[in-house]
Amino acid sequence: MTRARASGKVILLGEHAVVYGVPALAVGLDRGVEVDVEPAPTSSIVIGERRAETGDGSDMARALDALLGELGAGPVAARARLELPAGSGLGVSAALGVATARAVLGLGSGATSADARARVLAAAAAWESVFHGAPSGVDAAVAESGGCIQFSKSDGIEPVSLGRPLPLVIAVAGPPASTKLMVNEVLRFRARRPTVVEKAFAGIASLVRNARLCLEVGDLPGLGKLMDLNQMLLAGLMVSTEGIERACDVARRAGALGAKLTGAGGGGAVVALADLDPEPLLAAFRRADIECFAATVSAEAAP
Ligand code: PMV
Repeated sequence: MTRARASGKVILLGEHAVVYGVPALAVGLDRGVEVDVEPAPTSSIVIGERRAETGDGSDMARALDALLGELGAGPVAARARLELPAGSGLGVSAALGVATARAVLGLGSGATSADARARVLAAAAAWESVFHGAPSGVDAAVAESGGCIQFSKSDGIEPVSLGRPLPLVIAVAGPPASTKLMVNEVLRFRARRPTVVEKAFAGIASLVRNARLCLEVGDLPGLGKLMDLNQMLLAGLMVSTEGIERACDVARRAGALGAKLTGAGGGGAVVALADLDPEPLLAAFRRADIECFAATVSAEAAP
């Protein structure tokens, strides 16, 4: 049996626009997924109560077959443990792909050679494409790299150094949502109102440029303001919900420097930036009955 891990993630800025070529900023989380694999006569994967097996027609089984096909590997029995809620924009699906590929290749929690990292990313992309159609690749990139990265479809992964640790609080604001569905909603909105959507993407691109500078110099109040502005533009793209707006409001009233949805929206998680101490934000979310946890990204967390 071989075991491997991969990080969950939050997108700090740039989701949806990243699908259309705009760079996004993302950080890996300590929490993620752990996967055990062993050779078996036919492939299967168990995640909690759920089991999928080659030939059962499920997305999970097709994704596992696509991943193994990309790696040129034989059938395996995989068993996964999730440390994060699935379908909440926290990168569980991509982390499952990365951790499973690492386990199949016997790489533990990470690969050292560029070649092995590229194989893991290609396998995770094959896995992700079953669930998401045409993912930008940001989720798999950060699940593989950890740390803080800028990702774009044209330039791939660029490590971003942090001037100060990021005290993040993540709140699970809404029910799970489908990334594929939300990406399609934006596609349809863009077909109806191309100018509005292109202007929003241009705005997000400029927020991302400024946010990268804030990350590098450790300007957290500046970063928080940019996150708030990104949330406004995401709301304009119709991917926010009442639950997300409420959670952002709870965070800001409790002193968050900024708060926004993270991932595809339509439900799922909110990321809030605390001013040093995450405790007041955690307490406010708990009072509002919103599930939450703290996730500080250390300045040393290198991709
Ligand atoms: O998988 P999620 O919910 O974290 O969303 C990924 C981010 C999107 O930009 C909405 C989609 C993508 O492929 O980049």
